[in-house]
Amino acid sequence: MKALNSIHFKRTILILVTFISVYTLIGQGGMWLPNLLEGMNEKEMQEMGMELEVADIYNPEKSSLKDGIVRFGRGCTGAIISKEGLLITNHHCGYGNIQRLSTVENNILKNGFWAANKAEEIPAPGLTVTIVDRIEDVTAYILAGIGDDLDPRERQSLVDQRISALKKATPKTEYQEIEINPFYQGNEYHLFVVTVYSDIRLVGSPPESIGKFGADTDNWVWPRHTGDFSIFRIYAGPDNLPANYSPGNKPLKPRYYFPVSLEGVRERDFTMVFGFPGRTKEYLPSIAIDQTIKVVNPARIELRTDALSIMNKYMREDEKIRLQYASKNAGIANAWKKWIGENQGLNTVGAVEKKRILEDEFMKRVNANPEWSEKYGSVLTDFEKLYKELEPLAFAEAYSYETTIQNIELMRLIGFFNELVKAYTEKGVEGFVSYREKLVPYLNSFYPDYNPDIDKEIFATLFEKYMKHMEKKYIPYAFEPYTSGEVLADVIYDNTIFTQPKEVEKLLRMEDVQGIIDIIESDLAFYTSVQWREMYDLITPEYNRVLEQINYLQMKYMKALMEVFPDHRFFPDANSTLRLTYGYVKGYKPKDAVYYLPVSYLSGVIEKYIPEDYEFDLPNELISLHAKKDFGKYADQTGDVPVCFIGTNHTTGGNSGSPVLNKYGHLIGLNFDRVWEGTMSDYYYDPSICRNIMLDIRYVLFIIDKYAHATHLINEIDIRKAKE
Ligand code: ARG
Ligand code: ASP
Repeated sequence: MKALNSIHFKRTILILVTFISVYTLIGQGGMWLPNLLEGMNEKEMQEMGMELEVADIYNPEKSSLKDGIVRFGRGCTGAIISKEGLLITNHHCGYGNIQRLSTVENNILKNGFWAANKAEEIPAPGLTVTIVDRIEDVTAYILAGIGDDLDPRERQSLVDQRISALKKATPKTEYQEIEINPFYQGNEYHLFVVTVYSDIRLVGSPPESIGKFGADTDNWVWPRHTGDFSIFRIYAGPDNLPANYSPGNKPLKPRYYFPVSLEGVRERDFTMVFGFPGRTKEYLPSIAIDQTIKVVNPARIELRTDALSIMNKYMREDEKIRLQYASKNAGIANAWKKWIGENQGLNTVGAVEKKRILEDEFMKRVNANPEWSEKYGSVLTDFEKLYKELEPLAFAEAYSYETTIQNIELMRLIGFFNELVKAYTEKGVEGFVSYREKLVPYLNSFYPDYNPDIDKEIFATLFEKYMKHMEKKYIPYAFEPYTSGEVLADVIYDNTIFTQPKEVEKLLRMEDVQGIIDIIESDLAFYTSVQWREMYDLITPEYNRVLEQINYLQMKYMKALMEVFPDHRFFPDANSTLRLTYGYVKGYKPKDAVYYLPVSYLSGVIEKYIPEDYEFDLPNELISLHAKKDFGKYADQTGDVPVCFIGTNHTTGGNSGSPVLNKYGHLIGLNFDRVWEGTMSDYYYDPSICRNIMLDIRYVLFIIDKYAHATHLINEIDIRKAKE
């Protein structure tokens, strides 16, 4: 009886806590559209200390903070910090570009790079940055007359038609693009007019030992000491408009650039992070979270653990391999480690249980209202059914994706040759030639970083896992006789042409196209890849069919939540559009008896130093600057240089490189990560342990000035001491 009571008591407390956190999210959580900050957000931000008006942040009529924010490449953010288009982002955001500009002889990834003047800045081919010119709520047009009873497919096709009509009808210059995106799972639509710049040049990068200090061991972890920044410049044509690379282009004169503040941060200071968060799933039902924890994440984690340990083994032994695989490895490891933290965090905060409690309350309210119970009464049970149906498919999709497409390079590569064959089958020689034109540059960037020995070992391991864990119907007949991945890997990798770049080059240059196709098709690796890929193609339509129904239901559920909990604040899930999030500089308590302070220092960098270590080595110059306490104006009141800090800003992947702004809107840091205990914030934001990790701008300036002696850059940046 006593035990029962105590369980009951615990549950009541949990219910209470959940509702407190659902209803009093003051300054905690949420990624807001900059065009919709007026009212609730503005008031709250000012209460929290902001000294600006929202019209200073977003203003389509005149220059405002949003004009200094760029989407950097496809998955990051950056900030403009000078009147000559100087751009700052994370080191890990510029990483791929810096790596491509590096060679073993001139290893700028390893040694760092500082252009002494504009003529030395190096073009980064393929890199673009995007600036948002204007945002408009177009829900009324897109959803006009669309009722709840419309068939999902019909609804979608109507919406798609209107999106494309509106895109065509919206006035724009030749340099602008129009994006229209769904918000609140399709209950709202906003239109973005954007400008894309494509002449972007590398200006500066610290050596990897600073920019990636702590590498994967410290990734997603606080306390952190990574100098995660790199510097680029946007160039434009003579008329200051976007232009493709040309030596005659001029630095962009931006509409806005951020002053940089040396004022720094203290606990409880107001901060905001302005950027392009990629994807969150904050409104999923409990059953979906449960499935992520138990089925999807473990499958992905398991396969990547294998692939990574093989890669790491080779990378540690050989500097050339380390360079070849650095970027690929970082990408695979990043998501892998995040999923591990995500699962732990979801479990620790009891996200499933908390969602269930919310769902109980939801049902209570829905059942008490005949109109709601008619409309929304079955939403949760429908979710149950659909997620049950999804479960085996979600597992198969994850497993199949991580093998055939993600982690075995040869299998992925051959996917492109399969496209080449298809182009030939469908469009003859012309189709072949036009696909080959796209394929060759890809191969030129693929092969220099490819090592067949590593790949073969990964193949052998993942193949065996696949055979062991996948349902029989997803195993190609041809695979059945092979129980040993190693035996099959030997046969394939020792006989295929696709591991030999010179042979492939020769092959593609042959006159006789049919002859080329014959050689490709008779290759055993090709055959294996195609067979394997077919399984993936068998899974995805089924998987997508269920997912489509889930998404439709999710739209309904989102609408229902907003109706049923009218006092709760709902922010739209991230979708790679421009958002503002704000919070306080704040430490946290990761576990019993441990409290993490919110600021890390240069002395902490030195504490972690391990000579010659592949993750924790440091340049001698940095060590001696520390020893001499040669900190210039970049130390704070403690006499040490601040390196990173954490806060309650709600961020996600894509927010990397986002400027961190103080109450005046001055740049004080760069967002680059989240803490391990809080990576579950994409599903469940818990203000008690979710923290974003930011790089203190004073460390950036210290490195540029004292370490790199790039004083011309320091002079170019508008550095403010206190509020001016
Ligand atoms: N975790 C951060 C983000 O998701 C930083 C990643 C940098 N990559 C790395 N492997 N250290 O992107
Ligand atoms: N590191 C992430 C990024 O690259 C940010 C995050 O997931 O917190 O965008």
